[in-house]
Amino acid sequence: MRHIDNWSRLAVVTGFCVLAACDGKNPLDIFVDSEKDCAEMAVQRDIQKVAKTREERFLGKVPGTTARCLGGEHAESLREGPWVDWPNYWSAGDATTKAPAWLLAKAKVVGPNAHGINGALYELELQRIELIKFNLFDNNGTYEAYVTGRDGKAGPVLPTWPEMRLPQSHPDYKAVGGDQQQVCRKELIRFRTLTGVCNDIRNPLMGSTHQLFARNVKFDTTFPDLGLKDLTKNRHGDRLGLLKPDPQVISRKLFTRKQSHPDKCHEGYGLSAGDKEAECEYEKAPFFNVLAAFWIQFMTHDWFAHLEEGHNRSEWMAVGCATQLVKNVEQPLTGEDAKKLGCRPDDKIDAAIIAEGAAPRSFTQGGKTYLTRAPKTTANHVTAWWDASQLYGYDERSGKRVKHDPKDPAKLLLMPVREGGGAGDKLGYLPVFESGDPINPEWSGQEATAFPDNWSIGLSFYHNVFAREHNAFVDAFRVQAALTPDGDSGLRNPAKPDAVIRYRDVTANELFEVARLVVAAEIAKIHTTEWTTQLLYNEPMNRGMNANWHGVFEKQELVADMLKEVVRRLDDSDDARKANSLYAALAGGPGIVGLGNHVYDGELLVGLIDPNKEDRWDLKNDNHINGGVNHFGSPFNFPEEFITVYRLHPLLPDLIEYREWNKEPNVIQQKVPVIETFRGKATEAMHQKGLSNWGLSMGRQRLGLLTLQNHPQFLQNLKMNRLQSPTRQIDVAALDLIRDRERGVPRYNEFRRQYGLKQLTSFDEFVDQRLSKDSSVRSRQEQLVKTLREVYGQHQCDELKKITDAQLNDDKSPINDCLGHPNGSLIDNIEDVDTVVGWLAEFRRPHGFAISETQFVVFILNASRRLFSDRFFTSSFRPEFYTTLGIDWVMHNGPGPELMEQGTPNGHQQPVSPMKRVLLRTMPELAGELQGVVNAFDPWARDRGKYYSLDWKARAGAEKDKAFADKQ
Ligand code: HEM
Repeated sequence: MRHIDNWSRLAVVTGFCVLAACDGKNPLDIFVDSEKDCAEMAVQRDIQKVAKTREERFLGKVPGTTARCLGGEHAESLREGPWVDWPNYWSAGDATTKAPAWLLAKAKVVGPNAHGINGALYELELQRIELIKFNLFDNNGTYEAYVTGRDGKAGPVLPTWPEMRLPQSHPDYKAVGGDQQQVCRKELIRFRTLTGVCNDIRNPLMGSTHQLFARNVKFDTTFPDLGLKDLTKNRHGDRLGLLKPDPQVISRKLFTRKQSHPDKCHEGYGLSAGDKEAECEYEKAPFFNVLAAFWIQFMTHDWFAHLEEGHNRSEWMAVGCATQLVKNVEQPLTGEDAKKLGCRPDDKIDAAIIAEGAAPRSFTQGGKTYLTRAPKTTANHVTAWWDASQLYGYDERSGKRVKHDPKDPAKLLLMPVREGGGAGDKLGYLPVFESGDPINPEWSGQEATAFPDNWSIGLSFYHNVFAREHNAFVDAFRVQAALTPDGDSGLRNPAKPDAVIRYRDVTANELFEVARLVVAAEIAKIHTTEWTTQLLYNEPMNRGMNANWHGVFEKQELVADMLKEVVRRLDDSDDARKANSLYAALAGGPGIVGLGNHVYDGELLVGLIDPNKEDRWDLKNDNHINGGVNHFGSPFNFPEEFITVYRLHPLLPDLIEYREWNKEPNVIQQKVPVIETFRGKATEAMHQKGLSNWGLSMGRQRLGLLTLQNHPQFLQNLKMNRLQSPTRQIDVAALDLIRDRERGVPRYNEFRRQYGLKQLTSFDEFVDQRLSKDSSVRSRQEQLVKTLREVYGQHQCDELKKITDAQLNDDKSPINDCLGHPNGSLIDNIEDVDTVVGWLAEFRRPHGFAISETQFVVFILNASRRLFSDRFFTSSFRPEFYTTLGIDWVMHNGPGPELMEQGTPNGHQQPVSPMKRVLLRTMPELAGELQGVVNAFDPWARDRGKYYSLDWKARAGAEKDKAFADKQ
């Protein structure tokens, strides 16, 4: 057994307590149940611990005793293979995964169901801690200090970096201190700045527009096509290239949705005028709706963009449809082959923008050599912050696209468009771009907003909804101001921190910026507690995501306050990696949001039990303003790998089943091709049909499963005028692969190893072994595995070739080219699989997961970092910035006290969800439809059934909805 020191032991125990919602009970009590396996697990200390070295990571796999304790023999029997173990624990799935009555009867203290959920949460927390420890690689020049430390301080606790200072050319250079120590103050720290500077007051440049994307994988594993290292060459031979294996061939063989009536689909372009006879078949996820698909596109436009104003580099390149493997040999495609496949050899695209292409410098530390950055880097052309920059702007040009209401500049301009519609229509619609607006000509005719690229009805929907929400907050503030004009709004100006700002004193500009803060925080809350809990629809994830936001101790303020203070003080610890691990583990107690937004005095934390203790948080104190953030030694930006796992194009259907709220919502009136709403065409579709009808339609329809052969046809055949090619068309599914190759994302198997997941040793491991041998689903998976083998090929392996230093075999020997198969045997080219293809092929997933475990591990790290690093979600989540009304609005999902849902969905008392409240405020006419909706991203007419059911069954009143006739 590995040695564990006291810190690790504490992390383990507190981890249990924090994550197990142990309600004040001794965390170790969970082992006191009489179950033999749990006792054995406790005695043998088979609890996974934070790994000391990269090779020791636990890979989401547990010993047999642990599996039996947490999920019985069933869990133990599923341990074979690469997939993580926690999804097999008691209660981690639907009602059938709850422990049987005989086991419950034997339970003494906590019981097997709680064991299962707590065990799952513990392992997820451990994964997060290990990810923070091993997967942070900044490209902006700070990595050397991360490895070597600076001024006697270890790298992982460095809180500031010279590379994050504003350069001399920046207009605010002098304001933040010029060539002296830089600290943002006064106007620069009041609100979210347009370009995202000064979120962290001591690292002004961090997360701002044009900063470089980070990496989550070792720099020398990026750009495998370049074959820069022997390990890489051993791993891939000479089998990789930008167009090798051919991306369009992969797209056509592995991504195309099969159609039984292609003439009714017309490559996703449907039939004319919304004809109901149109049909584009797709595999559907029963528990996630089309609103959820567009939500995530709406989010990604806030977080990252490789393109600048919708363009890449003006260098046109071929995109494949040129070769295919035939019996492991690359052969040119004939015209006939291409026709048969449906790909287009004449397509072209503009090459990806590369920020730095020169070879990086290297350095040595402890006898090892490291690269200072990846061989090439790329920039994020929007702010990395969750600041609603897609609505409000991320630089001067995009900011000019945002139109204020001239009658009340605190509001966004909304125009009356539809006469006689529902109550929501009276709130108006976004205006259309005018000549003179700074836009790419392709965006003309679209509704005016900061981020207008790849626009369709889905984005139009969200931009209109949140513009209305912005104005709803402003209206509520004005009502409050009229009632209590002399009351304290809670807002303060850091330039005059002691001056109370009364409601009547709040200027229109200040109110606009407060509304932006509130809308951004609401969006973050919706995403964390509502969208993600439906994306990952099971109990451990429901608890985990709510813990990220509210904390496990939501209803126990004292405990939460105490833990917040402990976490805040961890900053002082000088044991870098341990402090980071503890920080991450403990933050689950109070939740990340609001960390550091109260400050209490005193040596002894016991004093915190005093309910009358004084909050000393002070706007004059830089440490208080900034004290809640933690970047774990690496400046925050998304890693390149994050974009890869958000290439979620299969979520989209080709046709939207259009319904009307006041006509008989159960009836599909039209089938509108998404492509008929592309760019400017969305405006007419929106104005003619109205926001609430689109909401109803996309709210009821299921989205596409993220799996192979399920990409929308319209995206494989997308027509774009800007393309300088004979076809003026592009296959976006193929482009997803090309872009990842251009940006050096490691291929699937090494990607998994780098993130601390187990490698696959053949394509066969994708098949879900839980399915019976004669199941049709299984035979389809086996068919797809054959296609994978045909497309990526096989090679004769050489056991002398070591292929990775990220992990070791179980017997501690190096992993070699044979992946455990006999030397010289013909093995699958599993190492070459593009990461997107790999995660789409993961047929075995945790219950209710719309995504794969490979994507999920990327989210575990980056979704929490996005909160941990942002002052406005941690120590500056305070009325001084948001106003008192603003904080209440975010906490209670709108004005007034929190409203509760009836009953106990999935066994919990639940507030009316934040997105449902937004929908009700912005489209009151949907009140009837939304009555039974608990999560706005679950298909609105679905009966949610009992405990995390995924059944596709109509709720009462929707039985006649034809969508339920389709059982698959
Ligand atoms: C009508 C709907 C959509 C259209 C027309 C569309 C189109 C495109 C196109 C043309 C690109 C390639 C840009 C390039 O690299 O040159 C792209 C990239 C991308 N799309 Fe979509 N897309 C749509 C929906 C979605 C959805 C629902 C998601 C879900 C998250 C998504 C996620 C992405 C991501 C992550 C990228 C990479 C962005 C980057 O590199 O910065 N897209 N999309």
